[in-house]
Amino acid sequence: MLLRIVLFGGKGGVGKSTLACATALKLSEHHKTLLLSIDPAHSLSGILQTKIGSEISRITHKLYAQELLAEELVEKYSKKVLLALKETIPTLSSGLEEYARQLKHSPTALETALLDRLVDYFEEPFDFIIIDNAPTGQMVRLFYTMNSLENWFSFLEKVAEEKQKLENFMGRKNNLIELLRSRKNRVKKVISVLREKAIVFAVTNEDPLSMEEGDSLQKHLRNFKVYKVINRCSLEKTPFLKVPYLENPFGIENLRKLHIDHLLKVIINE
Ligand SMILES: Nc1ncnc2c1ncn2[C@@H]1O[C@H](COP(=O)(O)OP(=O)(O)O)[C@@H](O)[C@H]1O
Ligand SMILES: [Mg+2]
Repeated sequence: MLLRIVLFGGKGGVGKSTLACATALKLSEHHKTLLLSIDPAHSLSGILQTKIGSEISRITHKLYAQELLAEELVEKYSKKVLLALKETIPTLSSGLEEYARQLKHSPTALETALLDRLVDYFEEPFDFIIIDNAPTGQMVRLFYTMNSLENWFSFLEKVAEEKQKLENFMGRKNNLIELLRSRKNRVKKVISVLREKAIVFAVTNEDPLSMEEGDSLQKHLRNFKVYKVINRCSLEKTPFLKVPYLENPFGIENLRKLHIDHLLKVIINE
């Protein structure tokens, strides 16, 4: 059963991927864990020093990992939308291929495809899903896309309902409303699972710029559980979660030495 989704966000270079790998390794000692990179500039393979592909692969007994390929993800999503539309409104077929082509290049295509794919992960038998994110801006965009998609599908559903009233009058019926409703329900599922099960670690270092980005992430995601983590921390007293400096934090053996006990406590006890 899915217990928690843990997301690592923050400025580029602060240690998101390193902490994501170390956390996934630790949790997978007892729980079936998926470590997922959604940063187009993947680095899990390098950090774990193990080849990780665009399909889920098994890394240790209970640890699985995957580096999602943005282009592949968007391609699959647009094919899926195209197929659903073809089945729902066969008379539209001439313009659909062009629409699917346009869809791939729309500004939030990646985020939309990713959110849709997340629902499938939630249904797979993992206890923990650890997500290594792209830097702050892109992660914030993912969360905003999620909310705007729900509103957008609700709006389209209303338009389709109005259209259906007219079609009923003419004795015609199509399944567009059902299609839009099912898309909306998938987005709602992502929102509710993230609200209930997500913990976001806003990773920063001690420098003011990365701290500022950490604060900004916390503000943007204020409806979620966000904890600030100071990585490579040398400060004695700080009200935030601390992870100290570690020489060469890559390769499975070394990563196991990273002190992330506070983070694990938050994940397990929250
Ligand atoms: N606790 C740590 N101690 C020492 N070096 C670290 C620590 N965490 C991360 N690093 C190093 O910092 C660099 C950036 O880390 P990375 O995890 O790739 O950051 P991000 O994913 O945020 O871009 C890497 O060289 C990594 O080895
Ligand atoms: Mg990274």
